[in-house]
Amino acid sequence: MNITFRLNGKEVTVEARPDKRLSAILRDDLNLKGIRKGCGTGYCGSCIVLMDDLLVSSCLIPAFAARHKSIITIEGFSQTKEFSDILTGFKEANVHLCTYCAPARILSTAYMLRKNIMPTEEQIVDNISAVQCRCSSFSHLKRGIVQASIHLNKRKNNG
Ligand code: FES
Ligand code: FES
Repeated sequence: MNITFRLNGKEVTVEARPDKRLSAILRDDLNLKGIRKGCGTGYCGSCIVLMDDLLVSSCLIPAFAARHKSIITIEGFSQTKEFSDILTGFKEANVHLCTYCAPARILSTAYMLRKNIMPTEEQIVDNISAVQCRCSSFSHLKRGIVQASIHLNKRKNNG
């Protein structure tokens, strides 16, 4: 079937089986390599995208459920000022992310900060657990998210 959705602000149509996973459509058919191949079961978070402003694991979304949705991947999000704020915050806190998890980590941070620009420690810890990683420092990540929220807040307050 033809599946039409908005991808990073532009309408796209792909031919796919209705049960084909969105992660496979984005990565294999549309060449968006920021979608990582991971568990395929919704556990690791490495295929995270924003769909209608909600954070979803794209490996759990069948093609038919993506119809007429607005999907943002890291390729689109990296063009935003929010992306720069998050990157700056992470750098200041010495957050070192590998290329495998960086897209998902940045998108999940953006999602949380859109909902709550000054998150509580509990919300930050909860957010960090959305993307599985045993190699980056947990305390650096926490600090990085706080720094990112400060930059986002500052920019918003300056109009
Ligand atoms: S590949 Fe989608 S959550 Fe792991
Ligand atoms: S999986 Fe990327 S830093 Fe751990």
